[in-house]
Amino acid sequence: MIADYQIRQLQAVVGEGNILTALEERWCYAFDATDHTQVPAAVVFPGSAAEISQILRLANRYGFPVTPRGAGTGRSGGAVPAPGGVVLVLTRLNRILEISIEDMVAVVEPGVITGRLKAAVEEQGLYYPPDPSSADFCTIGGNVAECAGGPVAVQYGVTRDYVLGLQLVIPTGEIIDTGARTMKGVVGYDLTRLIIGSEGTLGVVTRIILRLAPKPPARQTLAVGFPDLEMAARAVSLILRAGLAPTALEFMDRTTLDCVREMLPFEMPLELAALLLIAVDGHPHDVEERTASIARFCREQGAGLVIQARTPVEAQGLWKARSVISPALRQVRPQKISEDVVVPLSAIPRLVAALQEVSRRRNLPIASYGHAGDGNIHVSVLYDRKVPQEREAAHRAVEDIFSLVRHLAGTLSGEHGVGLTKAPYLEMELSRDAIALQQRLKRAFDPNNIMNPGKIFPPSAP
Ligand code: LAC
Ligand code: ZN
Repeated sequence: MIADYQIRQLQAVVGEGNILTALEERWCYAFDATDHTQVPAAVVFPGSAAEISQILRLANRYGFPVTPRGAGTGRSGGAVPAPGGVVLVLTRLNRILEISIEDMVAVVEPGVITGRLKAAVEEQGLYYPPDPSSADFCTIGGNVAECAGGPVAVQYGVTRDYVLGLQLVIPTGEIIDTGARTMKGVVGYDLTRLIIGSEGTLGVVTRIILRLAPKPPARQTLAVGFPDLEMAARAVSLILRAGLAPTALEFMDRTTLDCVREMLPFEMPLELAALLLIAVDGHPHDVEERTASIARFCREQGAGLVIQARTPVEAQGLWKARSVISPALRQVRPQKISEDVVVPLSAIPRLVAALQEVSRRRNLPIASYGHAGDGNIHVSVLYDRKVPQEREAAHRAVEDIFSLVRHLAGTLSGEHGVGLTKAPYLEMELSRDAIALQQRLKRAFDPNNIMNPGKIFPPSAP
């Protein structure tokens, strides 16, 4: 536990108004978007990299753990504090420092809300593509920590594809820069890439240099319904192979569709087994042509329903329904274990079919939806914590799903990270030697293990 005199030293660093110590206030920082909770010993709101450096030096001196946090929207427990630890909230570092139209670069602090950055660059005719479906409230720092993806990754890639460089406070307190403000750069090890997706375990990002894309002049959205789940899944890889280059290629199974049906701007027949949501970006003429080709292609592949959004409001309605799937699934059961698996494109039909088998075997509803165009399916195992058989069955179902995914040469997480939720399963994907090497890297950055400990590595690992 952190002692009173240590709290006073933290207070001296950040100022009296920027630390919370009352239990009811600390509770507000005990969780993220998973069902894990841990009340921290204190919550600090630093205002600069220099203050963060001092906080980390105190953490090393006294041995208390520090967990960085943006908006707490993460899905693997990354921002859930360590027992007895301090939460370092980065929301005061919320400045957009620069948007350079000529260089197509933005420089931002980690606490900037992703949607605010997107809107600011769009005003300048530029585009920051990644949106993990929570852009209205998540922060760019959290997106970097987890390497967030989202629907448009099919065309534009994920957060790592946009980060050119970082300013970082490493766990021992030094402030370093990685990368450069240029489109290319190979000087030294690629620490930028190592930090992206490191889930707050290797330091605290305090500044981010982002590459921007030109704003696409036009976008069209299609909703495509299939009478059969595997038929929809097969259509996904066929669309990509046919060179139809969709910007987003999202998938919902029937359980998912039932939860958002009322939000959709179109009537969806009850007998649909799956829905694809497809976006196409580009120049207006090209977009029209590609959208029509995709619509035709989907009909040839057996789609029973093909609707093109006629107005921006209809398109927004479709994407809005897509973005609320995760909370909407709670209608089926109060608890869910949300997985984020990825399989090779050819294996998507086998994955969705096998998930139905797992659902039958474990006698639990399983909803699948997500970024089918990347082979990245969000699999939600829905259960009621108060029913012991369901709780047990849900954990068995997760093991079944991970075995299945590894059997299909897939990976356990595409964009949500390992955090607390997948740490016990790390050895299903990484060899002991690979884990040991990663732990040696962690020690090189963080010899006293103060930086977001307990994340990524299995609890049993040394
Ligand atoms: C989504 C989040 C859960 O795609 O990744 O909705
Ligand atoms: Zn997602």
